Amino acid sequence: MLSIENLTKRFGGLTAVDQVSMTIVGLMGPNGSGKSTFTNCVSGVYAPNSGTVRFNEIDVTGRATYKNARDGLARTFQTPRVFEELTVLENVTVPLLNTDQSDEAIDEKARSMIEAVDLSHVIEQKAKQLSGGQKKLVEFARNMMRDPALVLMDEPFAGVHPEIKETMFERIEALNEHGTEFLVVSHEVDSLYSISDRIVVFDQGKRIASGLPAKIQQNDRVVEAYLGEEVIA
Ligand SMILES: Nc1ncnc2c1ncn2[C@@H]1O[C@H](COP(=O)(O)OP(=O)(O)O)[C@@H](O)[C@H]1O
Ligand SMILES: [Mg+2]
Repeated sequence: MLSIENLTKRFGGLTAVDQVSMTIVGLMGPNGSGKSTFTNCVSGVYAPNSGTVRFNEIDVTGRATYKNARDGLARTFQTPRVFEELTVLENVTVPLLNTDQSDEAIDEKARSMIEAVDLSHVIEQKAKQLSGGQKKLVEFARNMMRDPALVLMDEPFAGVHPEIKETMFERIEALNEHGTEFLVVSHEVDSLYSISDRIVVFDQGKRIASGLPAKIQQNDRVVEAYLGEEVIA
């Protein structure tokens, strides 16, 4: 569904993503290895310096995020982006405003998405009153309103309460069973191993390994890439 060819993104003299090619999977790598930059290039937040992104065989390189979202390529952010002054319900309805669906249909769908991420008890609260993890769930529910074919998730588990992490896991797995594909970006190795079918590993902007989670765990280059991190942590 998604295919990436020789994607490169530079910030001044720094090459944050260095000629990466891949098809869809779970993406891990130490902090600063280029995961977010990569996700931003794929979803249209950044235009890459070179390389190609194809989604359903269409070249979408550098295309605006909202156009990608309309075509079924959704994404969530490392720091969730919600409308702070709007309620949870209002936040989730946003993607379907200005579509031909009736207000009742939109409302009903939004409520069911909110229920699915266990936020019904805060449905009338403003987003600014929520925890960071709850905001991630709002963003997730909002993304689901358009029935995306593929969802790019940047660090969905980072800094969230274990219960919210569990909800996130369940939702990803349930939707995946119904055909929604995910690219989950995480530096949390254990979370990623448990939900990914295949994993790609970045280090310093390069793709250094890919394969089944069980194989990746034993890959010398991967262990090495993470060693420095563990010493610091
Ligand atoms: N907007 C930016 N401007 C300059 N440098 C950036 C920018 N975003 C990221 N970087 C740099 O690019 C590299 C990769 O960062 P990032 O993609 O955020 O890594 P990760 O998500 O894997 O932690 C880092 O060295 C980071 O400092
Ligand atoms: Mg990141």
